[in-house]
Amino acid sequence: MTDNVDGRVAETALCIQRATLDHLKHVIDLDARITGQSKPDYWQDIFERYGKRRVDQRFFLVAEAKGTDGILGLIAGEVRGWEFGSQPCGWIFAVSVDPEIRQKGIGEALFKAICDEFRQAGMSTVRTMVRRQNQLHMSFFRSEGMMAGPYTQLEMSLDDE
Ligand SMILES: CC(C)(COP(=O)(O)OP(=O)(O)OC[C@H]1O[C@@H](n2cnc3c(N)ncnc32)[C@H](O)[C@@H]1OP(=O)(O)O)[C@@H](O)C(=O)NCCC(=O)NCCS
Repeated sequence: MTDNVDGRVAETALCIQRATLDHLKHVIDLDARITGQSKPDYWQDIFERYGKRRVDQRFFLVAEAKGTDGILGLIAGEVRGWEFGSQPCGWIFAVSVDPEIRQKGIGEALFKAICDEFRQAGMSTVRTMVRRQNQLHMSFFRSEGMMAGPYTQLEMSLDDE
């Protein structure tokens, strides 16, 4: 694949598009390699809900190297509104890049692509949730310009009583 002088994948070599049924097996394989857990039913369900229905507000995108089979990465999110008193905004709930080709700008290209989709859907804010100890996710999203938002997540164990 063509790289720029700065080591990033050239935009012209990259194709970011909506996930299709043909991508599904590659999505399942990539996620299994990254998380160590194969979840075909989960991804089939995500594809049904985010790849096929309400596609003006739900975005399941994959990055491919032009002219090759397989995927380099994925990002998924949707417009959500009025929960917890929030105005509608974009939410990103999954992002993954093939470990073999990280730190070459593919995650950033996916992030920018889904932000463009949210803008076209009329949104002016994008949110996500990151485990505090996950330095990689934190570094990535912060480098894309994301900062702490106005909400705090609360939880408790239901097993104690
Ligand atoms: C987070 C992730 C998507 C980043 O993808 P990527 O293609 O490597 O990211 P990019 O090359 O576009 O990097 C964009 C910025 O993120 C930051 N970044 C990326 N990788 C980093 C790392 N290892 N350490 C520190 N910062 C990093 C940098 O600031 C980088 O900007 P720079 O290139 O100007 O320095 C990728 O590492 C990944 O898939 N991680 C695992 C995700 C996962 O666990 N998914 C399953 C649950 S959803």
